[in-house]
Amino acid sequence: MSQNRTDLLATIIPEIDVINLEHPVDLQALFPGLPTVVDFGAGMGHHTVNLARDGYGVLAIDVHTPGICAIAQEVLDQELNNIRVHLGDGWALLTDVIAPGTVDELHVLFPDPWPKARHHKRRLIQSDFLTVALQVLTPVGTITVVTDDDSYADHVSSVVHNDERVAFVEPQREFAPTKYHERGLRLGHSIHRFTIGRLPQVN
Ligand SMILES: C[S@@+](CC[C@H](N)C(=O)[O-])C[C@H]1O[C@@H](n2cnc3c(N)ncnc32)[C@H](O)[C@@H]1O
Repeated sequence: MSQNRTDLLATIIPEIDVINLEHPVDLQALFPGLPTVVDFGAGMGHHTVNLARDGYGVLAIDVHTPGICAIAQEVLDQELNNIRVHLGDGWALLTDVIAPGTVDELHVLFPDPWPKARHHKRRLIQSDFLTVALQVLTPVGTITVVTDDDSYADHVSSVVHNDERVAFVEPQREFAPTKYHERGLRLGHSIHRFTIGRLPQVN
């Protein structure tokens, strides 16, 4: 690992990793007055930084150390005080650390597609993931999923259509393309974008 990454991991990352805050972490209180977004699987952080520049309070999560280091570097270079990170598993963070009802939008951009049929159970978007997401979202909060994998898009449609708690809603705005988005376009792939909202529950 480069000396720069070692330094970031020892200095700024512990300061901005929400795991080091008292739990549960209320994202609305962390980013007062800003709409809150979780960028789940943030990769190298292009989407996180774009959102922060647009005035969102963003929590970027990834298990990938170089990506979280790149985000921490942007936080330093651009003096962005509306980004927090977590270096580690996002599922556990949402379940155990983030306060319920404090996330306006959960973004999952270009999730790992796991193309082989025997690996489909590893795909992030599953009914159990929706349960965890619905717990942290505000009552009108949404989940956005973007993929360039046709099979994954079919999978997302099927998970949502088979779940009585959620439905597809109109997307609110376009996002600037990430590296994976640009790669998908170069390869001639269709970009599938889904926004998922909570259905009113009938008792
Ligand atoms: C294909 S990349 C997409 C990166 C980014 N969203 C983009 O569009 O450029 C998927 C990312 O999800 C991360 N990831 C997968 N499962 C995760 C989990 N359970 N918790 C945190 N990150 C995860 C991977 O490490 C990887 O960086």
